[in-house]
Amino acid sequence: MEQTADRIQLKEIIQDRSVWLRSEYDTEALKRYRESIDRLPPVRVDRFSRVLLDGFHRVRVLKEKGNEEIPVIFEECSSKKQLARALELNLHGTPIPIEQRNKVLIKLSNQGLTQKEIAKASGLSQKRVSQILVNSKRDSPDKKKLFEAIRLVEGGKSLREAERSTGVPKSTLERAVLEAKSRQEVIIKHLQSRGSLTSLLRYPDRGPWGKGSYSGNGSGYIIVDLLDYLKPKSVFDPMEGSGTTREVCFDLKVDYEGRDLNSGFDLLSSPLPEQKFDLIFWHPPYWPGFKYSSHPNDFSNVKKIQDFKERIHDGFVRLRDLLSPDGHLVIMIGDGRKNGTFYPIHSEIIQWKLLPLEAVLVKTGDHERQGAHFRYGPAKFIPTLHEYVLIFKGGSQ
Ligand SMILES: C[S@@+](CC[C@H](N)C(=O)[O-])C[C@H]1O[C@@H](n2cnc3c(N)ncnc32)[C@H](O)[C@@H]1O
Repeated sequence: MEQTADRIQLKEIIQDRSVWLRSEYDTEALKRYRESIDRLPPVRVDRFSRVLLDGFHRVRVLKEKGNEEIPVIFEECSSKKQLARALELNLHGTPIPIEQRNKVLIKLSNQGLTQKEIAKASGLSQKRVSQILVNSKRDSPDKKKLFEAIRLVEGGKSLREAERSTGVPKSTLERAVLEAKSRQEVIIKHLQSRGSLTSLLRYPDRGPWGKGSYSGNGSGYIIVDLLDYLKPKSVFDPMEGSGTTREVCFDLKVDYEGRDLNSGFDLLSSPLPEQKFDLIFWHPPYWPGFKYSSHPNDFSNVKKIQDFKERIHDGFVRLRDLLSPDGHLVIMIGDGRKNGTFYPIHSEIIQWKLLPLEAVLVKTGDHERQGAHFRYGPAKFIPTLHEYVLIFKGGSQ
């Protein structure tokens, strides 16, 4: 299939955007290539179509230098397979941002590739590919369309009209509108019966938001209470998991942005939204606890408490920059226990003094695991008993 390095005229190469994995050039990679311009490896091109499979950055710097001819390895790759091959070739090159990579995976799936083929091309396990594809459906325009359609009906349009303008089937929409109404009723009832907000939070259940089946899912009531108490105009959740915060914000008509590693956003390295937010609600994984993925930056993927704390610290610093001046950063986190030792993570976070602390709420629940420490003995992994809701204010300490 492959040949040894040959040479090709630059003007012969076709740079087909649909085979490019990125949306923009990586400036670091360009810099590196300019510095080692005489030692660049050959690019890869499909022999028949002359489509460039690998080497967009190299082509760019070599063009800048005025080269007319460059080293190439020709491959034979049908147009249907070119994007997958480009992804595979990139495994050894400059990594593409995860969000972008996930878009490529979705595109490959839409092109009809099996999960096994996508796993091979991306170097990921088939299980991870499947998770990414499933999660992309949850966050797909379908959900956004559904929200948009509900709003149209709430604004007076008929189900038929909303179906016509959004494409959401009338029957689906009818059910969703009823569910939205019943969630509104849950909110009203909660706010009426809750009394004033105290520092001890106790909720009867997690409420109808997000997914109860998602590991580590949070209660939607805490979001209702925070929105009611802090009155933010915009909210960001960088680890939205099953979308609890998203759904409560929809119900309370608050602007919302949400991300998660499960849909390709890594809090430690991905580009952050460009706007500022009045409220950032951050519910990281528990340490030690359920492992969400084997992604190297997954917060649940660390063995040592020190590494976990470093990640929380770095995430905090990144999120801090997204706060509007009067905004609040709220972290909901549990303490950790391992091999009989208790780690008061929440109090360490406070001591970093990265932002002024406004309040600490303790969220407890009538949950059987409350007694677990004594039931199982200290050597076994013990889930957290309480969650702490740390409310920090924007501005400097
Ligand atoms: C406790 S769960 C959040 C649950 C969510 N509040 C809900 O109600 O469904 C923690 C989330 O953090 C995500 N996560 C872990 N590491 C991450 C990272 N580096 N960047 C973004 N999200 C991450 C996991 O995928 C998981 O969904």
